[in-house]
Amino acid sequence: MRSAFHSLTALVAIFTSVAHAVHPVSIQGQDFIDTVTKKRFQIVGVDYQPGGQGGYVPQSGKDPLTDKEVCLRDAIMLQRLGVNTIRVYNVDPTFDHNDCASIFNAAGIYMIIDVNGPFSGESINRAEPWTSYHEGYLTRIFGVVENFKAYPNTLAFFAANEVMNDQSTAKINPQYIRAVQRDLKNYIKNNCDRTIPVGYSAADVREILEDTWAYMQCDHSDDQSSSDFFGLNSYSWCGGDATFESAGYNTLVDMFKDSAIPVFFSEYGCNEVKPRVFDEVAALYSDKMTSISGGLVYEYSQEDSDYGLAIINENGTVTLRTDYDNLQKQFNALDIAAITGANPSGTSNKAPACDADLITSGIFDTNFTIPAVCPNCADLIKNGIDNPRNGKLVTVNDTKAPKAVYGSSGVEVQGLELRLLSNDAANTPTNETTSPTGTSTGTGASTTESKKGAASKTTSGYALFAAVLFTLLTVL
Ligand SMILES: *[C@@H]1O[C@H](CO)[C@@H](O)[C@H](O)[C@H]1NC(C)=O
Ligand SMILES: *[C@@H]1O[C@H](CO)[C@@H](O)[C@H](O)[C@H]1NC(C)=O
Ligand SMILES: *[C@@H]1O[C@H](CO)[C@@H](O)[C@H](O)[C@H]1NC(C)=O
Ligand SMILES: *[C@@H]1O[C@H](CO)[C@@H](O)[C@H](O)[C@H]1NC(C)=O
Repeated sequence: MRSAFHSLTALVAIFTSVAHAVHPVSIQGQDFIDTVTKKRFQIVGVDYQPGGQGGYVPQSGKDPLTDKEVCLRDAIMLQRLGVNTIRVYNVDPTFDHNDCASIFNAAGIYMIIDVNGPFSGESINRAEPWTSYHEGYLTRIFGVVENFKAYPNTLAFFAANEVMNDQSTAKINPQYIRAVQRDLKNYIKNNCDRTIPVGYSAADVREILEDTWAYMQCDHSDDQSSSDFFGLNSYSWCGGDATFESAGYNTLVDMFKDSAIPVFFSEYGCNEVKPRVFDEVAALYSDKMTSISGGLVYEYSQEDSDYGLAIINENGTVTLRTDYDNLQKQFNALDIAAITGANPSGTSNKAPACDADLITSGIFDTNFTIPAVCPNCADLIKNGIDNPRNGKLVTVNDTKAPKAVYGSSGVEVQGLELRLLSNDAANTPTNETTSPTGTSTGTGASTTESKKGAASKTTSGYALFAAVLFTLLTVL
């Protein structure tokens, strides 16, 4: 009887890990925190948009999170790489993302979702922002909130990406981005069960960077228009010869050390020196940069811009690049227990009140009059959009890799399977090498060892599950 009870407990524990979910993340001062453990959450992430902009084809029902086979294939490789977060740039608010969101959730991987799309009416038009801020646009972006709000692994929304990237765009757009943030935050407050952070992803244009951050975070009579966090697309660390100083990371730390909101790299990974060695990873998660909450490497799939960690072949198989191996090695070398087990920094800088004095470049917007809510939009914000498609987690039935994956030397990786994490955990690096042989710095023999080790661990989980189930059935 006693052992049956233990088996039942074990069964419940295993079952819970499948059915349950990662802990929602919220913001406390300068940090993201896990709402359950209250520990600091640092983003160890990769940007995910297979096919680039072409991966978003609304007319044929396709975006990066609609095909469960593709998501399973890639979630397995991202989980092995060691990431806990992806950023997805273009999604359609009317599509079903349940399978993909659930697969990433089961893998312990959070999602940061951009609410915009590349087509007309799907984002703020930086040349004439006032023409694009209207009911139709807000309906789209609120639809994205509706679609993703119930997934516990929805970490945050980007209200906009790199809208200000030079002198002229920096003059007229910031107040519109703040208007969009205000509307999104109020929408979430009125129509969601939990707070989901909203922020901006900035281009690393140094002449306007500090002003962008200052403008976005400052307090405008509590009207909700401030960013909850600040993402920086940072490509200044290039190759193995770069240093903390030469890459200007010291300047970034100085700039953001007193930030009232979390700051992280929403894209990083300069590709001027190839293959990339990703030495900046060690710097980013070191105690020199504790005011930065990690970052997302640009990007998972190889596209024309040549930033891929993996090549997606035409037959749906994947070939890892040396960049994947090198990044995995960097993630494996992190003291992940220290990074994920840290207490929040306790920083509670209050954002200064918005004021023209905060702006120092002389070329950035100093007008803090946030545009009034657009015509017919107030009711949407208060009562919600009509007929939203609301996502929800579903059971993950399949864990085996649906397609072959080849290591960087072309040898097929064996035993690929999604690991269903226990204890609602976020994914962490596993200290293993994925590409079978012949990586530039790899060690063939130990590689095979660790791969086998991981595979047998997963198998034993299932064996245990089967054994427990069998025991129960026998007892009952
Ligand atoms: C698992 O199977 C159920 C029932 O067929 C289905 O509704 C669900 O979408 C599947 N889950 C995934 C992640 O594909
Ligand atoms: C798929 O395509 C890749 C690249 O062309 C090739 O190396 C691989 O053998 C193909 N695999 C299958 C299963 O067809
Ligand atoms: C500031 O922006 C508001 C719109 O948000 C506009 O009505 C006003 O004219 C602007 N002020 C100046 C001085 O440009
Ligand atoms: C990862 O593996 C290396 C080499 O086998 C070992 O020195 C290191 O301690 C391991 N790290 C962790 C976190 O297990």
